[in-house]
Amino acid sequence: MLGRLNHVAIAVPDLDTAATTYRDMLGATVSAPQALPDHGVTVVFVELPNTKIELLEPLGADSPIAKFLEKNAQGGMHHICYEVDDIHAARDQLTAAGARVLGDGEPKIGAHGKPVLFLHPKDFVGTLIELEQV
Ligand code: CO
Repeated sequence: MLGRLNHVAIAVPDLDTAATTYRDMLGATVSAPQALPDHGVTVVFVELPNTKIELLEPLGADSPIAKFLEKNAQGGMHHICYEVDDIHAARDQLTAAGARVLGDGEPKIGAHGKPVLFLHPKDFVGTLIELEQV
């Protein structure tokens, strides 16, 4: 089912500081910030030779990463994203096996313009998983 690692996402309290750290201290290529109101985050992408890092800052009052940042005030690894060929087939296979999909179970359009779903961390050894159809 799983394809390539698409990205690792890090929740951060301050996107400018985080982007500057990656750009200036680590010498990485960092995109301009992109607001994603449907997902309650503003994101920048750090481009690496083999994958991407997403830096996520809360956007709006009901941001899904607000609680995470209450517990992890300096930020921390929030989720990992795996690529799948067919997101509906993956969802159906996973729910049939007892895994929980977050939200209403329907894919949303993610930061790269592709359908995404999130899987409950308690079903996946404590890691929030995003699936992205590529
Ligand atoms: Co993501």
